[in-house]
Amino acid sequence: MDHKVALITGGTRGIGRAIADKFAANGYDLILNYARKATNAEAAKQAIEEKYHVAVTTVKANVGEPEQISRLFQTVDETYGRLDVLVNNAASGVQRPLMEIQQKHWDWTMDINARAYLFAAQEAARRMEKNGGGHIVALSSLGAVRALPNYVVVGVSKAAVEAITRYLAVALAPMHVTVNTVSGGAVDTDALKHFPNREELLEQAARHNPAGRIVRPEDIAEAVYFLCTPAAFMIRGQTITVDGGLSLLAE
Ligand SMILES: NC(=O)c1ccc[n+]([C@@H]2O[C@H](COP(=O)([O-])OP(=O)(O)OC[C@H]3O[C@@H](n4cnc5c(N)ncnc54)[C@H](OP(=O)(O)O)[C@@H]3O)[C@@H](O)[C@H]2O)c1
Repeated sequence: MDHKVALITGGTRGIGRAIADKFAANGYDLILNYARKATNAEAAKQAIEEKYHVAVTTVKANVGEPEQISRLFQTVDETYGRLDVLVNNAASGVQRPLMEIQQKHWDWTMDINARAYLFAAQEAARRMEKNGGGHIVALSSLGAVRALPNYVVVGVSKAAVEAITRYLAVALAPMHVTVNTVSGGAVDTDALKHFPNREELLEQAARHNPAGRIVRPEDIAEAVYFLCTPAAFMIRGQTITVDGGLSLLAE
């Protein structure tokens, strides 16, 4: 078995799917995790296998449940027996005005977006160390460092992601594992359907973006892939923003 293996959480649609395509195009076998939408998962598996001639295994697992994370990694062992890359991409979250946020909203969002990342990274690092090292990349958003409307719990969970990345980068370096975060501006995926101001966000992102267009899933995938190449060896614990320069502008 000489193909490298990448595990992408939430890798069956949206940005995760673009990341899956990028790794497949570069010869990686894939484990694509999803939570509910089996039809999307099956479509992704078929399309990627046909186009890139790599192996794709899909695993339904809610990363908000620690025992389901363990099961996901058991599948990695049973299917491929190695792991080279983990992309912590799956995310969920409750978007409400701050004064309406309840404890259950906080727990749901933090468990899926932040807690899952730390424990998945532990599982991944143990396996990567066995084959000489690997790469972990997590996804974040500008709400980690900005105060976006209705975004408090997701924003805080993404700030935690960026902090976890810094700690992991130091702790996992002796295991030859690099760890970084890619943060994005608004990308038109299903996730944006939950934003009450979706149209305004997209219109603003396209019209004002110094790069002249909105960020596409493929733009994020390029940065994630780069961070898993030898060229990025000395980049550790960083959050790389892929937004065409939009966040540089004053309102
Ligand atoms: N879209 C943006 O504007 C944007 C901007 C910056 C950063 N990001 C970040 O990029 C990442 C991907 O975003 P996206 O817009 O592509 O999301 P998306 O279209 O909503 O897709 C989410 C993916 O995650 C999976 N997922 C959701 N909850 C899960 C759980 N509990 N356990 C396992 N898998 C779960 C979904 O599986 P099912 O298909 O089964 O539901 C799906 O595959 C996220 O981390 C997001 O915060 C997005």
